[in-house]
Amino acid sequence: MDKPLRIGIVGGGQLGKMLTQSAKQLGFFVAVVDPTPGSPAGQVADKQIVADYKDEAAIRELAALSDVLTFEIELANDEVLLAVMKNGTKVHPYPETLGIIRDKLKQKYFLKQNRIPTARFMAVETEKDILAASQKFGFPLLLKARTDAYDGRGNFVVKSRGDIKRGLTRLSGRTLYVEEYVSFSKELAVMVARSVSGKLAVYPVVETIHQDNICDTVIAPAPVAEKVQNRAEHLALRSVRVLKGAGVFGVEMFLTTDNAVLVNEIAPRVHNSGHYTIEGCVTSQFEQHIRAISDLPLGKTTLLPKAVVMKNLLGTRNGAGFPKGFDKALSVLGVSLHIYGKQESRLNRKMGHLTAVGDDYKSLLRKVRKARRSLLI
Ligand SMILES: Nc1ncnc2c1ncn2[C@@H]1O[C@H](COP(=O)(O)OP(=O)(O)O)[C@@H](O)[C@H]1O
Ligand SMILES: [Mg+2]
Repeated sequence: MDKPLRIGIVGGGQLGKMLTQSAKQLGFFVAVVDPTPGSPAGQVADKQIVADYKDEAAIRELAALSDVLTFEIELANDEVLLAVMKNGTKVHPYPETLGIIRDKLKQKYFLKQNRIPTARFMAVETEKDILAASQKFGFPLLLKARTDAYDGRGNFVVKSRGDIKRGLTRLSGRTLYVEEYVSFSKELAVMVARSVSGKLAVYPVVETIHQDNICDTVIAPAPVAEKVQNRAEHLALRSVRVLKGAGVFGVEMFLTTDNAVLVNEIAPRVHNSGHYTIEGCVTSQFEQHIRAISDLPLGKTTLLPKAVVMKNLLGTRNGAGFPKGFDKALSVLGVSLHIYGKQESRLNRKMGHLTAVGDDYKSLLRKVRKARRSLLI
């Protein structure tokens, strides 16, 4: 390669922003498509096309500006991306992979086909179907929207027969499926990168702690037995091997109360559980993704400190997107503050994150919590 590459990203949120920052660090040109003018990624990219992620004309315009297209959001349209790819633009990961993953039921069938262990699941449409599922799996049950779900917004826990109607009302207008409720002791995640030439690189296994179905805290490495770490790593690698195209993938997993590891879901993109890699690893997940899709050598994934803790800054109110208490948070030494640059905060919206590196995750947890308490967003 003897000239800077041009990267096109569908989606201009925080993931797009951090991808853009890594691409800019390498001296690349970046254009993004996002419906919100001045999106987080738009603030740091060379160009933002203001349009919906699924807007065909906008994606074609992005393709004309780029050597390689990628996406930071499952709302991207795999059919349009496939058409663009057939026209000669490189797209990574492959649109076919996005097509499998963006429909959670399709994804589950795909994992099952490839003998990757998951929670038991069933396609459902009506109250009667859900009742039939409950006879098989028992209560509680997870009723899930098949597409366009994130941060737990497409999930409904059906605790008893009486909940079924409420669940159907809550998720009305969406195609659904159900999952057996997994009794887990921890949630784990592993980021895996695959380059265009097929080389794989795996990041440390992390623990993800969710609040209200949303990722809140990430601990790296996961405080679990080495045997469990190996099992999770192995499963993540197996999962990514069967998916096509280059890039970084996030594999979310459950560690069940009887110590089995199951795949919850896969993200065909950089992932919240990998934000810790910015301060914590030799190569961040964002730089790794840019390297992977650009057919460049992958970087080292080694953890630099003994432990890293990342805590999301989830919105607690409707208000400004920049926090109050900024100075106080910065006074907690050893904590890095990331603010995504979104205009407005909303309840549980991802507005930024905090990272601390050190020797012992328990003291790091205290540090990021202290910094979090001083911020109002
Ligand atoms: N089958 C399940 N059993 C128990 N908890 C679940 C199950 N599926 C999801 N959850 C909980 O809900 C969270 C969000 O669900 P997930 O399917 O990953 O949706 P999202 O796309 O919103 O991340 C998970 O991280 C987990 O805490
Ligand atoms: Mg998830």
